[in-house]
Amino acid sequence: MITNNRVMKRTDYCGTLRASDIGRAVVLNGWVQKSRRLGGLIFTDLRDKTGIVQIVFDEDIPKEVFAAAENLRSEYVIGIAGKIRERESKNAELPTGDIEVLAEALTIYSAADTPPIYIKDDDNVDENLRLKYRYIDLRKLRMQRNLSFRHEVVRITRDYFFENGFTDVETPILIKPTPEGARDYLVPSRIKNGSFYALPQSPQMYKQLLMASGTDRYFQIAKCFRDEDLRADRQPEFTQIDLEMSFVDQDDVIGVQEGYLKRLMKELMDVDVQTPFPRLTYAEAMARYGSDKPDTRFGFELTDISDFVKNSEFAVFSGAVAAGGSVRGINFSGASDKFSRKDLDKLTEAARTYGAKGLAWIRVTDEGIHSSFSKFYSDEEMAKLTELFYGKSSDLILIVADRDKVVFDTLGWLRNELADRLGLKDSSVYDFLWIIDFPLLEQDAESGRFKAMHHPFTMPNPDDLDKLDADPAAVRALAYDIVLNGTELGGGSIRIHDKTLQNRMFEVLGLSADEIENKFGFLLEAFRYGVPPHGGLAYGLDRLVMLLLGEASIRETMAFPKNQAAEDPVSGAPGTCDAVQLEELGLQQR
Ligand code: AMO
Ligand code: AMP
Repeated sequence: MITNNRVMKRTDYCGTLRASDIGRAVVLNGWVQKSRRLGGLIFTDLRDKTGIVQIVFDEDIPKEVFAAAENLRSEYVIGIAGKIRERESKNAELPTGDIEVLAEALTIYSAADTPPIYIKDDDNVDENLRLKYRYIDLRKLRMQRNLSFRHEVVRITRDYFFENGFTDVETPILIKPTPEGARDYLVPSRIKNGSFYALPQSPQMYKQLLMASGTDRYFQIAKCFRDEDLRADRQPEFTQIDLEMSFVDQDDVIGVQEGYLKRLMKELMDVDVQTPFPRLTYAEAMARYGSDKPDTRFGFELTDISDFVKNSEFAVFSGAVAAGGSVRGINFSGASDKFSRKDLDKLTEAARTYGAKGLAWIRVTDEGIHSSFSKFYSDEEMAKLTELFYGKSSDLILIVADRDKVVFDTLGWLRNELADRLGLKDSSVYDFLWIIDFPLLEQDAESGRFKAMHHPFTMPNPDDLDKLDADPAAVRALAYDIVLNGTELGGGSIRIHDKTLQNRMFEVLGLSADEIENKFGFLLEAFRYGVPPHGGLAYGLDRLVMLLLGEASIRETMAFPKNQAAEDPVSGAPGTCDAVQLEELGLQQR
């Protein structure tokens, strides 16, 4: 019987076989990568999640087996029994390339149509096609490796937190709409028409309630949902490594994380990272790197030249300072030859997307200093300005004058962009960094209203409490982010555990008494019955895996990600529902 439902009991995985297995009888199951006949022999590459091995059918096997093997096509699912022998023409590119399996028996479990995408790690097909046929795409060894890498991250993470006294607690998925940063996904209630559940943006309030409940140390690999615009490192549905601890201060939380990340890097990547990680205050990170998630694998730090240029004739510079902004630049040391005039024009064009109105440049050469704004400065002034940047021959200095936000955004982006182009991001280096002392609040440019920079439960720095009413923008938070090579891996804070202070915080955020009661009443009530000081943090698991794998997109780390339109191309979700369902939910289609 060639095609049947009886499973041949596997003895080995394809990709694990080596010369030391020569002479062994094996049973393998898998997918046909490709199959071709050469004279009296049929060569079939058999693949499973571990790799590929060559199978040979010769004419000594029963006729019907050979005939069946002749029909094998790519992606047929088969089982074979046979003996391992040394391969005549070895294939150095394949880990199993020294051997082959001489087949004795064959079972075809299922035939396959020609697949819409090739099972090749480096194919260039359109991502939407890959996502639509994800179950085929996942057959690629690279994707299987990514899935098992992610599994390893989760395993080590669980081990570490369990060993450190954290209890894994599941928190609800159907919760009350309480807008955090992003838009909620809503689920209509059938029993209470007109009411909605929200899917959690994070387990934040529940983990705080767990602290009030005495759980002491909570941990969860938690699904989170945020209806926000997608980017390469964002998904509407993603996973956090979420944790919370009682009776701790900021250093305690940070210490536990450093132990975790050190262990993860060692066990998973065999990389020794030095702890404690450097800490930068938010203000210092912005001033030095123009970013609150700086990549510190390379220098290119910012220099503030506002003082020097504030009275200059060059209105672009002096005007920006007069308007309360600043003029800052970066010395891209040694880069002058690498960027033509045309390159600079293109960079200037790209800088506009960050709000910059232009990019001023200085090139230092052996012959002298050239710049895009030399007509406004004498040679001596230009030399002094260049000195502020420690400019020397072959340096390229780029300067932005604007509101601070634009200056930081543009220069922060430029640092990364030029470091990329100059090949300065060493993928074997893992620079972990804490950003601390975040501002508690940020002001909306249009409405002028304050909103919480992290979330409204974050504890203000006790030293700044007196400024909460008079100068809210100056209040620092007990909030911290963990950054790896320029990506925010996670963030957390010490929480407010005092009802009065929490209420005051909601008021600063402009919530009315009704809104406070309606959205957060249950949390404030919990604070009435005894709550320990507590704090925690959440990592983006998908991002962590993406960074450690060196993948450019978060989608490569998830089995079934959403596409740019937040659709699941495999199932076609989101879908419509029928009139009866809508009726039950008390909803009407517009
Ligand atoms: P925060 O909103 O900073 O904090 O989220 C924590 C981490 O989750 C990851 N992340 C995402 N990953 C993929 N797609 C997304 N759309 C997405 N959004 C966030 C990031 C981020 O650093 N409750 C707080 C944590 C706390 O205070 O303990 C929270 O959710 O890596
Ligand atoms: P102009 O006088 O318009 O020729 O500008 C001189 C230089 O200043 C050019 O290189 C412009 O790109 C640059 N520039 C214009 N606006 C800004 C700005 N806001 N910040 C930095 N450089 C600017």
